[in-house]
Amino acid sequence: MRAHATARSTPREAHGVARVRLHDHHPAPADVRGEVLAGLTAPAKHLPPKLFYDEAGSRLFDAITELPEYYPTRTEIGILRAHGAEMAARLGRGRVLIELGSGSSRKIQTLLAALQPRVYVPVDISREHLLESAHALAARFPTLEIEAVCADYSGPFALPLDPTWGGLAAFFPGSSIGNFEPDQARRLLGRIAAVLGAGGRLLIGVDLPKDPAVLEAAYDDAQGVTAAFNRNLLTRINRELGGDLDPQAFDHLARFDTERSRVEMHLVSRLDQQARVAGEVFRFRRGETIHTESSYKYAIAAFQRLAQAAGFVPKQVWTDPHQRFSVHCLRVDS
Ligand code: AVJ
Repeated sequence: MRAHATARSTPREAHGVARVRLHDHHPAPADVRGEVLAGLTAPAKHLPPKLFYDEAGSRLFDAITELPEYYPTRTEIGILRAHGAEMAARLGRGRVLIELGSGSSRKIQTLLAALQPRVYVPVDISREHLLESAHALAARFPTLEIEAVCADYSGPFALPLDPTWGGLAAFFPGSSIGNFEPDQARRLLGRIAAVLGAGGRLLIGVDLPKDPAVLEAAYDDAQGVTAAFNRNLLTRINRELGGDLDPQAFDHLARFDTERSRVEMHLVSRLDQQARVAGEVFRFRRGETIHTESSYKYAIAAFQRLAQAAGFVPKQVWTDPHQRFSVHCLRVDS
């Protein structure tokens, strides 16, 4: 679909009143080549987790969220359903609702009904994904104003907000904050606080530390979907950079580092081998790993300290009955 900055895009539904405006900030495409070459040249090889999400990877991630072992998605939705009304009261009804990474329409729908925001501002780096979910929501909530912003929220960003719209609330689900190193996470929270301004509210989903066996199963499922998701990174690199990495020559590894409170995913070389990527040759020793993702797990108090360091005041936190996952409401300190 073609869309122009701040143009009202064509309603797709025959009878829908699709109030969707696109604000395209043209986020810079990832420097895939630079990041991959830097990661594979480092003494401890690593690759950036954002490269997981090409088309095949996004489909595999959707499949992960349905796996019996992958508890975060269904647990967070359960918390939102159980406490949506209370969350709406905490956030304030009739506000502007900003969603960071708008890939979770099932989650936002539970909130929209309870919150009845004045304006909904989904922010996502993928233009297609953003417009698709914005139009789907416009069809379901015909009176909702939608200001869709195509931008990379992990860098500095500004939003098309009219001061007369009133108070701001943001929703950042999925424990996506856990993919950032703690100091990066603090900086990101600080930028969100700056965008929201004094008195703004943030509702954020955060996965909790737990039995390592439960965590490791969630990232190494019996059907091998997460393993395929991890190996797809190599397939993507081969396709986009020209390479001959053999995904089957690497084992999928997920382990919980209790000291750092993070699940790490790695690709472990099954043998001494070499591969070509973007015209360069890389050697892998047998057992050598490529670190592909860290997923930090924060106890409630630990996350509240991080949020406070970024300028937030903790207001309330909800969990499921098994204490697997948490949803925090934070207010920007004035
Ligand atoms: C989308 C980053 C929240 O860390 O649980 C799922 C990604 N990686 N299985 C997570 C993921 C492996 C997911 N996040």
